[in-house]
Parts: sequence; structure tokens; C-alpha cells
Amino acid sequence: MSAKIKTIGVMTSGGDAPGMNPCIRAVVRTALAYGLNVIGVIDGFQGLIEGHFQPLGARDVGGILQRGGTILRTARSEEFKTPRGQREAIRQMNNAGIEALVIIGGDGSLHGAQKLAEQGFAVIGIPGSIDNDIYGTDMCIGVDTALNTIVDAIDKIRDTASSHTRAFLVETMGRMSGYLAVQAGIVTGAEMVLIPEVATPVAEVAAMVEDAYRRGKTHCIIVVAEGFRPCTTELGQQIDALDLGFTTRVTILGHIQRGGKPTAFDRLLASRFGTRAVEFLLEGLSSVMVGLQGREMVAVPIQEVISNPRQLPAEYIEMARMLAK
Ligand code: ADP
Ligand code: F6P
Repeated sequence: MSAKIKTIGVMTSGGDAPGMNPCIRAVVRTALAYGLNVIGVIDGFQGLIEGHFQPLGARDVGGILQRGGTILRTARSEEFKTPRGQREAIRQMNNAGIEALVIIGGDGSLHGAQKLAEQGFAVIGIPGSIDNDIYGTDMCIGVDTALNTIVDAIDKIRDTASSHTRAFLVETMGRMSGYLAVQAGIVTGAEMVLIPEVATPVAEVAAMVEDAYRRGKTHCIIVVAEGFRPCTTELGQQIDALDLGFTTRVTILGHIQRGGKPTAFDRLLASRFGTRAVEFLLEGLSSVMVGLQGREMVAVPIQEVISNPRQLPAEYIEMARMLAK
């Protein structure tokens, strides 16, 4: 197969993540270096169905290495989840001469990639999601940048929290994964981390807040992953009503976590993923995701990726707890 491929497509899908642009750049420049043509798909799977394509040359991906977001834009497409949508996407690619597709996106996007693979279309997945909830890779594109954004925000929140003797509940993204919250808790010295993976009664949170006040702390930072229940706003109201010494405020960091210049780590990771994705195709691989395992770039079958949950290492949860005293 590899010898015959002349034209590949590249697209971004699902939630954007800082580092998608350097990844697109790496896919395009690597493909050109090997003599392939590249076509960009605009607007993810929806653009695929609508034949929203744009040829990409070396200059088209110039000046994007340091930019957040994705120049190919991204979208969520319900239509693509139907067999009809998938058939239409393949028809559009066949018409445009796209013989293989590199899909940069999160867990949902990899489910979409598998659907194309099952219909015999050559696909390579690249994990791009700030959530770091994808099996088969130590890190996804965007996680490091998002974490740095969170750290910057929490450092600032601590300044104002200390000045006012307040408790802050700071909500991080991550869908049902507590990865960002736990890592942020460790590196900001938060007093507590609440994640969906570990049920924590409100009474336990309240006891910790009260204890922190008694010990003379001038602030109390609790990092709450968005998937934790009760939700951050409700928890904030409950804690505040208990009158535990600190007054309570809630900050939901929201989509600022998805924006901004990718860090050096994300630029390098994204570039490595992009280059290996094209090389895997040329080696004849398909239906695999490029994963970072240790220091190595490995090919993991997409079916395996989407069939397994990504576990949050227990050692991080324990560390966050131990270091928060
Ligand atoms: P992410 O890739 O960031 O996890 P989503 O979960 O929204 O984001 O998925 C992105 C897109 O992938 C969806 O809008 C849809 O078009 C496609 N997709 C998700 N799940 C499936 C599925 N089971 N079958 C086909 N396509 C899917
Ligand atoms: O998957 C990335 C992510 O940012 C999640 O952390 C969050 O739950 C979700 O996307 C938000 O999606 P939207 O951009 O549609 O609000």
C-alpha cells in the first residue's frame, strides 16, 4: 500500500488543543519531504462530509508553530456518527484523491477514525486533547500547555485568596478524567484535589477546610475536576454555608485552558506525532494511533485505544494527598 500513496489528508477534530497547529505543520512538511501531496480537511468530520478541502503546501503551514487553536478549524459532527455520514465522507475523499487520512483529536475523534478504518480507509490517529484521557499514550497534545495555564491561574488566585483569607474552589476541565486537576494540585500546592475517580463526601471537604483555617492558613485552594460531583458551584455553596472560617469563592477556569501558545513540550510532542504518523503510513501501517510510551513513539491499534479506559495512576492521587498537608 505504502508505495502507492500519493495524496494524504489531514484534519483536526473534537475539542481543540494547543499544539494541533505544530502537528499539522509536521504532517504537511514530513509528507512533502517524502514526495506526497497533502490536502487539509476544514471543520473536522463535518468538513469531510461536505468535501471542505484545501491543498496544503509548505508555506501554508508557515508561522503556525506558535499559534494555539487549529488553522484547519474543528467541529463536532452528529452526521458523521451515522453510516450514511461515514459513507459520504469516504466518497468525498475518493473524489478528491485522498488515499489516507491523519486525524488529530480526542477519544471521540478516534472512535470516528475507527469507523473509517472498518470501511477499509487508511487512517492514522494522533491523540490531541487537553484531558489526557486516551489509552495508549503517556501524553496527548495540549495537556502540558493547559496545565501551565492552570498553574498560572491558580498562582494568581492564591495571591488574592491569601489577601482575603478565602477558600477557593478552582474548576479544571477534563471531562470524566481527573488528570489535569491532580497534576495541577501537586504543582500548585493545593490543599485538596477533588476528582471523579475518587468519591469524596462534602463532610470530608468541609473538615479539611476547617482544619486548614484552624492551623492558621491564610488561604485554602481546592482544585475540582469538572467531572466531580456535586458540581463545583453547588459544592462551593454548601461549603460557604457551613461557615468554616474562610469565606468561599468559586472560579471555573473554562475554555482558557484550551487556548494559548503551545509550550515547548507540546510543540515537540506534536511535531514528533505528526512526523511519525506520516512515516507509519509510508511503512504500510493503518488503523493505528501514534502514542508516546516512555520516550518512544509507538503504533497502537485504534481499536485497542478506544476499547480501554485510560487510568489515572494511583501514585499521583496519593502524592497530591500527601503533599497537601
Ligand atoms: P474529542 O475527539 O475531543 O473526544 P468528540 O467526543 O466531540 O471530541 O468527538 C469528535 C467527533 O468525532 C464527533 O463530533 C463525531 O463526529 C465523531 N465521533 C465521536 N464518536 C463517534 C462514534 N462512536 N462514531 C463515529 N464518529 C464519532
Ligand atoms: O475534551 C476537551 C474538553 O475541553 C473537555 O475538557 C470539556 O469537558 C469539553 O471539551 C468542553 O467542550 P466544549 O468546547 O464543547 O464546551
